[in-house]
Amino acid sequence: MTRDRPTETDARTEAGADSTPGTRPATDGGDAAAGADAVALDPWGSSTVSDYRKLFEEFGIEEFDDALPEVPEPHYLMRRGVIFGHRDYRPIAAAMRDGGEFAVLSGFMPTGDPHVGHKLVFDEIIWHQERGADAYGLIADLEAHSARGLPWDEIDEHARDYLLSLLALGFDADEGTLYRQSDNRELQDLAFELGSKARFSEFEAIYGFDGETSVSHMQSVVTQMADILYPQLDGPKPTVIPVGPDQDPHVRLARDLAAKMRFFKVTEAYASFEADALERDVIAEAHRTLSVEASGGSEASEGPGERGGTDSVRCEDAAAWLESGEFDRSRLESDGVGVSEAVVESAVSKLDAAGKEPLRPRVRFLDRNATESAFEALIDAVEGEKRVFEGHVDAFDLSREAAEELAREVEIDEGGYGFLPPSSIYHRFMTGLTGGKMSSSVPASHISLLDDPEDGYDKVKSATTGGRETAELQRELGGEADKCPVYELYAYLLAGDDDEFAKEVYDECVGGERLCGDCKEQAARLMREFLEDHREKREEAEAVLADLDIDLDSNRRGVAGE
Ligand code: TRP
Ligand code: SF4
Repeated sequence: MTRDRPTETDARTEAGADSTPGTRPATDGGDAAAGADAVALDPWGSSTVSDYRKLFEEFGIEEFDDALPEVPEPHYLMRRGVIFGHRDYRPIAAAMRDGGEFAVLSGFMPTGDPHVGHKLVFDEIIWHQERGADAYGLIADLEAHSARGLPWDEIDEHARDYLLSLLALGFDADEGTLYRQSDNRELQDLAFELGSKARFSEFEAIYGFDGETSVSHMQSVVTQMADILYPQLDGPKPTVIPVGPDQDPHVRLARDLAAKMRFFKVTEAYASFEADALERDVIAEAHRTLSVEASGGSEASEGPGERGGTDSVRCEDAAAWLESGEFDRSRLESDGVGVSEAVVESAVSKLDAAGKEPLRPRVRFLDRNATESAFEALIDAVEGEKRVFEGHVDAFDLSREAAEELAREVEIDEGGYGFLPPSSIYHRFMTGLTGGKMSSSVPASHISLLDDPEDGYDKVKSATTGGRETAELQRELGGEADKCPVYELYAYLLAGDDDEFAKEVYDECVGGERLCGDCKEQAARLMREFLEDHREKREEAEAVLADLDIDLDSNRRGVAGE
């Protein structure tokens, strides 16, 4: 499989209808070229994200704004909508609020210079570290070698540059962990274990791998899966992976593998047979209605662990009720549960087969990968009324949460990992200074963190803008900050934590008070200052890096892959 060389993908889309002007870099969502390639999330391609909204609809990424109120003192990239999406971020927000244990991890492919786009991720790692996370930064050198074809000497050099910039920006190496994939034996062991739950057919479906894909490339995928779960090797904890949305396929696979590695799966059930989630909704509805009737109208217990009422509803009664005209689907549908004929039919036939068995809510522990001794230990550990079946245990006096916790405890005692599914946050890609994509292979399109401060100044000065043809027009119509890579630089980087300043630039621009020449001059100076400061801090970081146990002279032999 041949894929393009690395390119930072571009991102020119709407920040959303509720975006606050001046604090949110809203860019054009409607450009025709953008619609053409729709959404493609390809970690090794040159995919562009043309429409962030589709990521929510098609891939189930959640909007970050929905979780934002739960985050204590959110980062400016969160406040400004640069971090636009997430998976399962709430446990991270909760850990930050309650002082719970959590981790942050991200990885960098050392294929070129670190640039301002990578700075977003560095900052995200550091910010979580400052808020108490166990922080991890890794060099994805196996991936760079196998998927991008980089030779080892170049990898070593770039690896160094990424680490220096991460340290220079504030990563605390005493508290946190930095590693190279190739150098981490524990990681490789975990990758091997995870590989036994990963199927080639999934790689085909997720990544478009085929018979021509190299085995080393596949190994780099399981290695990334191990990266993502690595912080949980010393115990399960919420872990956030800050990345660009092109990495979402990896996150989804890692969440999937985390679940597949579990000894037990906890579900809810109403009778001894297995029902899928949709059938369960239908059965739950029957149970709720019939047990209210049976107890003379008062609301019966809802879930396991708090049973008060009747056990007198039998499976066959529920089947009959579902087939009668009394079953009103609209109630379920108003809860967002679509009830198809086929689902009702299969629920009815399962209920009929169970005959006179009473319907009783319970939590169920399904044996996924448990050893015999782990299964026995679980049976012993379940308190209250329980029933043991081939391959599962039903508990009648446990809540779902208590059951989840118990399953994890037993798993860990018995030598499992007990992984929690990892969380992620996604940031927008930066627009290139020359207008199109920000690309590592087009130096004028990006500002490298290693750029000479004067070059950085010059690049900003010659960037395209969202300005009008003439100063008169600009005064009259205002600039288009939403389409301006220079404004993006302010919002993503130069304004730092200062929302007032970012808003001022925006308002002055769209209000026609700010003209591009002066605006770029100001941005260029700020960029120069930033690069000067960063350069100094990188020099100071040299000593820190030298003290770390990271081999940057790998001396490996090999033929770069792909
Ligand atoms: N695949 C990532 C990239 O293309 C690098 C990477 C490797 C990574 N392991 C990771 C990112 C774990 C996040 C988490 O840049
Ligand atoms: Fe961009 Fe500044 Fe010009 Fe506005 S004034 S379009 S922000 S360069």
